[in-house]
Amino acid sequence: MLNICNIVIVGGEGDLAFRKLYPALYSLHKENLLADCTKVVGFGRGKFSYEDFLTNMRKWTEASDYVKSVDDESWASFSERIMHFNGDATSAKDIKRLQKEMGPEEIVFYLSTPPSIFAPICKAMGEAGVVTDSTRLVVEKPLGESLASFNVINDTLFETFEEHQIYRIDHYLGKETVQNLLALRFANIFFEPLWNRNYIDHVQVTVAESVGAGGRWNYYDESGALRDMVQNHLLQLVCLVAMEFPARNEADDIRDEKLKIIRCLKPIDASSVHTHTVRGQYARGSVDNKLVPGYVEEKDAKAKSNTETFVAIKAEIENNRWQGVPFYLRTGKRMADRYSEIVIQFKPVIFKFIDVDPNALNNNQLVIRLQPNEGIEMKMMNKVPGLNESMDLQNVGLNLSFEEAFEDHRSPSAYERLILDVTRGDQTLFMRSDELRGAWEWVDGMIDGWEATRQLPQKYKAGSNGPDDALGLLIKDGRKWQDFEA
Ligand code: BG6
Repeated sequence: MLNICNIVIVGGEGDLAFRKLYPALYSLHKENLLADCTKVVGFGRGKFSYEDFLTNMRKWTEASDYVKSVDDESWASFSERIMHFNGDATSAKDIKRLQKEMGPEEIVFYLSTPPSIFAPICKAMGEAGVVTDSTRLVVEKPLGESLASFNVINDTLFETFEEHQIYRIDHYLGKETVQNLLALRFANIFFEPLWNRNYIDHVQVTVAESVGAGGRWNYYDESGALRDMVQNHLLQLVCLVAMEFPARNEADDIRDEKLKIIRCLKPIDASSVHTHTVRGQYARGSVDNKLVPGYVEEKDAKAKSNTETFVAIKAEIENNRWQGVPFYLRTGKRMADRYSEIVIQFKPVIFKFIDVDPNALNNNQLVIRLQPNEGIEMKMMNKVPGLNESMDLQNVGLNLSFEEAFEDHRSPSAYERLILDVTRGDQTLFMRSDELRGAWEWVDGMIDGWEATRQLPQKYKAGSNGPDDALGLLIKDGRKWQDFEA
């Protein structure tokens, strides 16, 4: 059933709205996934006339990788849904005026604004009397920069909304391949018996980006890779890999299990940051054969900064399933390639009846490619065909490419999935406040540890795989990072 609601995008003339939200809404419209009477309201300060607003929206929609093409007919019907509302979202009077124009349907308020104005916006909504039990609120990161500041923002939301009305976005959870982690683990019988410390040696999670921080340097400099990527995206991936079977396939059951993983993360503090984390900052180098500036040489950059653009962490989950199985996480900007993947490294076979280099038998791996070339590869040992006296072995991957396996299916963008779920009232792919509190607590420990021990980022060349010490983090445990295979 299609849910009848209106979607108000506050900050509706901003970058995120044009680049991600309107293209996603257009796709949902085209697939008939919005109720006929659903209106989409771009709530802005009046930077654009209605015509310019629509023109800009179409330009960005056509540029979206997920939309592929915009046809005049469906654009015309999509435009009929669009309203452009000029006003001040922190003014109760303007919010009332908006509601009058929109009518009595349920409203989804999507705050595509800096969190610093969440408080006055929510207050204005409360004063205007537009919030009922079925009103929903969508908020984007960054939700704080520490546990304390997250609590302040969250308490602000709770003054007007209840948990069941709040949808905190982590766009990684909307990615097809990330949702598939649940299917992979819980809809196949052959992983579960091996999915524990008896058979898994360690797990690697890499989210590498080739872009730099340029363009949003000031925001990024206050944040850094740990807060910008690990606190949310990477930790959510860890939770999906490590969590237990949820009692039911329902939002709170899944979120309860994720929370347990976050709560079992071994704290990393001043006594262990040095052995468990590596910070890096990119220096001038070349990416895709193009020279690129270093982090502090970017446009608008300060000449000196101790913000990390790369971080590698040895995380440990202290529970029965994962005790002794490190989860190595790394993410960085201006790295050699853009890719995200999870590697499950299995332990070597115990009884080596074949007389070959023992290391060669240490190669069972499950590689889950989240982006690009989305797919799954199971690496296993095989006999090389031939008449040699000894049995020659080779590691060969059983490769599942989603693009080939599902060639008749369009892969929707993360924002399509997430917006649709908000209209359906499904909170499964959104973060609950206790998950975020736990994540901040873990991350705060590292930040305090870095400050206390003055652990500064090491320079790494743009276009490389991060600082050398990131290699050392695994080498000292007798392991190595998985190389990217294009
Ligand atoms: C955002 C971060 O949440 O995720 C950005 O703030 C980062 O710094 C982006 O570039 C990465 O998302 P994706 O979908 O391109 O991997």
